[in-house]
Amino acid sequence: MKTLLSLLLALALGSTAAQAESGNKYGGEDRGKPVLPSQSNNLWKQECGSCHLAFAPGLLPAESWRKVMGGLDKHFGADASLSPEENREISAFLVNNASNRWRAPTAPLRITETAWFKHKHRELAPGVWKRAAVKGPANCAACHTGADRGDFNEDRVRIPR
Ligand code: HEC
Ligand code: HEC
Repeated sequence: MKTLLSLLLALALGSTAAQAESGNKYGGEDRGKPVLPSQSNNLWKQECGSCHLAFAPGLLPAESWRKVMGGLDKHFGADASLSPEENREISAFLVNNASNRWRAPTAPLRITETAWFKHKHRELAPGVWKRAAVKGPANCAACHTGADRGDFNEDRVRIPR
C-alpha cells in the first residue's frame, strides 16, 4: 500500500512538472496563465470598466496592481475611489490573477509603460497612436477586437484608419 501510494505520488508530481515545462514558454514568454481568468469578477468589470476598458489582471504584475489600487483617489488625474470593501474585493481579484507572463520589475502603474508592451508594439509607426479612432496606446480595444475578453492575439488585430 505504501509503495503504491508513493508510486502514485511520484506519477502525479512527474506529470505536473512535465506540464510546467511543456511548451507554454517560448520567446521568454510564459503563456501558461490566461490574461483574463475564466472565473471573472463582476465588481471589477463594472467599476474598472466604467471609464475605460477593464484592463485584465494578467496585463500587470501584482505589485503594480497594489500600487494602482492604493492610489485610486488620484488615478491618472481622475478620482476612482471605492469603498474599502469594494477595494478589497477588486484588489484580491487583480493580485491573485496578476501577470506571470511578462516581467515588469519596476512595477509601473501603466501597462503601456512596461517593456513588453513597447516591445510588442515596436513596429507600429508613432503616428498610429495619435489617430482619432485610436486615441492613444491605452485604448487597447481600438485595435484588439477581443480586448474585453482578454484576447490580444495578433491574428485579431485591426488597426483603424
Ligand atoms: C473615473 C474614471 C476611472 C475609473 C473608474 C477607473 N479609471 Fe483607470 N484610468 C482612468 C484614466 C483617465 C486613465 C488614464 C488614461 C490615459 O492616459 O489614456 C486611467 C488609466 C488606467 C491604467 C493605465 C493604462 C495604461 O497602461 O496607460 C490602469 C492600469 C487603470 N486605469 C486601472 C484601473 C482600475 C484597476 C480601475 C478600477 C479599480 C480603474 N482604472 C478605474 C480613469 C478611470
Ligand atoms: C494602434 C493599435 C493598437 C493598440 C491601441 C494596442 N495594440 Fe496591442 N498590438 C497591436 C498590433 C498591430 C500588434 C501586433 C504586433 C506585431 O505582431 O508585430 C499588437 C500586439 C499586442 C500583443 C502581443 C500579441 C501576441 O500574440 O503576441 C499584446 C499582448 C498586446 N498587443 C496588448 C495590448 C494592450 C494590453 C493594449 C492596451 C493597453 C494594446 N495592445 C493596444 C496594435 C495595438
